[in-house]
Amino acid sequence: MSNLKIDYFQDYKIFSQTAAELVCQQLARKPDSCFVFATGFTPLGLFDRLSAAYRLGKASFQSSFLVELDDYYGIHPSDSKNLFQWLSKAFLDRVDFPIHQTVRFQTDVQDPDRECLRIEDEIQSLGGIDFLVLGLGANGHLGFNEPGSSFQSRTRVVKLTEASLQSSQRYWGEDSKVPGKGFTLGLGTLAEARKTLLLVSGKEKKPVLKKLLTQPPSPDLPASAVHHFDDVRILSDLKIS
Ligand code: PGA
Repeated sequence: MSNLKIDYFQDYKIFSQTAAELVCQQLARKPDSCFVFATGFTPLGLFDRLSAAYRLGKASFQSSFLVELDDYYGIHPSDSKNLFQWLSKAFLDRVDFPIHQTVRFQTDVQDPDRECLRIEDEIQSLGGIDFLVLGLGANGHLGFNEPGSSFQSRTRVVKLTEASLQSSQRYWGEDSKVPGKGFTLGLGTLAEARKTLLLVSGKEKKPVLKKLLTQPPSPDLPASAVHHFDDVRILSDLKIS
């Protein structure tokens, strides 16, 4: 059995509220924290609560920094599928996050490898990632680190698997074509974060969560890299028996 710390919640509301409290505690401890927030359906409740906390004067991101976790490659930055745009609408524009304190992938660059090095350099200049909020892919991906990703991998461009393309299709609708490649912070890059919160919600995640908690870490299940992360907490609204 795993020694990963996991907290189960009876519903999505309490799960999201707890995640928001942990982000607020980080803000109180270190207002100039460097955050990474996953996109997807899972953190939407967290974003709602953080934006409510901001409106009530209980949370401010004025001094904080953000690095994008992943994005598609080969689309214009203003494309509606651009994940930084998604994050802006879902979260950044609803709080006081200064845009000049955010680092995003330029999704239409000519030289993607150079772009990945730039992102790694930006993380170093910010002093590393303080607080990482991740979601879990039904195929075990973390960011766009697909099955087979080395635990030492750095920021890079990857070919998205059929499972991830189908999962992404949920965001954009059946008729919308999802780009086949993506940028992602590497598993080795993520492993250097000082604190990690892995959020697991959605009944389709039950099998992968069970694997994560019961099987030895392996690149076949990229999320199992978290076994080697420094300070990880998993929150879930799915009880694994
Ligand atoms: P979800 O996706 O939060 O939309 O379920 C998570 C993921 O696939 O990484």
